[in-house]
Amino acid sequence: MDQMEDLPRGILKAIQVGKKNSKKIWFEPVSYFLKKKFREMQYLSEDELFLSLCKKKKHDPSHPLEFYVNELKENQELSDLYFRVVDQGKMPRKYQNHDERVEAVRVNVVLFYALIREFKPEVLIETGTAHGSMTSWIVTALYKNQKGMLHSIDLPPVDGELTMGMTVLPEDVGMLIPAVYRNHWTLHPGDAKVLLPRLMSEFSVDYFFHDSLHTRTHMLFEYNVARCLMQPGAFIVSDDILWNSSFFDFIRSHRLQGFGAFSNPNVGITLNEFDQYELGIGTYIR
Ligand SMILES: C[S@@+](CC[C@H](N)C(=O)[O-])C[C@H]1O[C@@H](n2cnc3c(N)ncnc32)[C@H](O)[C@@H]1O
Repeated sequence: MDQMEDLPRGILKAIQVGKKNSKKIWFEPVSYFLKKKFREMQYLSEDELFLSLCKKKKHDPSHPLEFYVNELKENQELSDLYFRVVDQGKMPRKYQNHDERVEAVRVNVVLFYALIREFKPEVLIETGTAHGSMTSWIVTALYKNQKGMLHSIDLPPVDGELTMGMTVLPEDVGMLIPAVYRNHWTLHPGDAKVLLPRLMSEFSVDYFFHDSLHTRTHMLFEYNVARCLMQPGAFIVSDDILWNSSFFDFIRSHRLQGFGAFSNPNVGITLNEFDQYELGIGTYIR
């Protein structure tokens, strides 16, 4: 199927051409539509999403989601650095203050912060860092946990290349991560096609985030590498799942359950689950 004819991409385009301030109003009906069309996908409120994922892992959350929302809002390091980078003209000013920034992407608080605070993973891999907006939240969660390492794989973005509309200098990749948290972050400059399988086979990875090249081929490649090389029960998170139907195709073909939030149908998560047959044979690397 041609990428432009892809249903989720059509929806994404429709959202984008909608008037800017009506954008969010589109999200809920879009989520309902996607849930109906892709039955393996569940769209929920952020609180339900957080609780459902904890339940699926048979984990009693130690705090409600609101606790983590407030923890992020109260983080002065993140706030100061974000606005310093904006004031230096290195990023456009999208939000007036830090609270507004956190509130605007509550689903990201669940996927890139609260779950990490709850599950305290040891090894995490992300593809696609650029300024490091969500990277900074992941690394902050690891710092707060006092354990864990995020490995980020990134080709610095160049305006006009690999669908990027901005340039970030190699030394500026991850610029939104406060220096005091960086003991929990390792940057691997290079192509995810080479580095992702290498790192995934080197470490026992608990958490994977895709945010690099959003083509069908590349997304399917990364999801499948993650599926084959990660532990059963590990989290697979993806940004920009509406660019094409690869995330939906991936979860369907592996009979996985996908989750998202009504407030932003463009972000998805699934658990790397296996049936008894595959578990019986073993999923480890020999
Ligand atoms: C959307 S940006 C990432 C934004 C980031 N996650 C954040 O929250 O700020 C995508 C990044 O992936 C990089 N990228 C694209 N293709 C890649 C590939 N094959 N391997 C590694 N990085 C890639 C781009 O250059 C860019 O830096």
